[in-house]
Amino acid sequence: MRKALIAPSILSADFSNMGKAIDDIAASGAEWVHIDVMDGNFVPPISFGAKMTADLRGRTALKFDVHLMTQTPQNQLDDFAGAGADYISFHLEAAVHAHRIIQKIRQLGKKAGVSIVPSTPASALDSLLPFTDLVLVMTVNPGYGGQSCITECFTKVEQLARRRLEGGFEFLISVDGGINESTARQAISAGADILVTGSTFFNAADKAAIVQKLRG
Ligand code: DX5
Ligand code: ZN
Repeated sequence: MRKALIAPSILSADFSNMGKAIDDIAASGAEWVHIDVMDGNFVPPISFGAKMTADLRGRTALKFDVHLMTQTPQNQLDDFAGAGADYISFHLEAAVHAHRIIQKIRQLGKKAGVSIVPSTPASALDSLLPFTDLVLVMTVNPGYGGQSCITECFTKVEQLARRRLEGGFEFLISVDGGINESTARQAISAGADILVTGSTFFNAADKAAIVQKLRG
């Protein structure tokens, strides 16, 4: 089976020891750090922001994969670009001018991602696929770690992988929410390139072993 890259989400880490969380991710062999930014508006919780991202940036060369769950993503792009994000993803559901936001992220020298919640069809992304670097398919309703994967969302991963092939596009497909050993298999066979993992990673005693198991 194709191998996926692993992106542990620090939302599930011990917030009193974020530096250690980054060190644990680096030591595990995972490639990306997934940074879940919640504004208390697009989703109820408030998590963390650009300053923490900047403070963690000095600790690792791993890719920083910022997932903006915010109602006003256009207002946060400069701060997260300045904080050292590599990928900045925003929610289609929060964007009126999604194409403009993608352009802005790219002008800032970063990779642009678009995310969709479980109730948004993959076809809603059609006009953006030629422009985006990443599609982040939420497999839970955003807001909280530790939820069960809505496996029906993998159909959207299949549809996006097909559209990518047909269109000759180059975006990566990421899945986010409820990824464990079993759902990781399904995600990879559907066409996912990146697996976000919060609770499965941080609850694992042997983090290198869980990364190996998840990546296929
Ligand atoms: C949910 C976040 C996810 C979440 C993943 O709103 O976007 O990244 O933290 O956590 P698990 O893997 O525990 O579902
Ligand atoms: Zn996320």
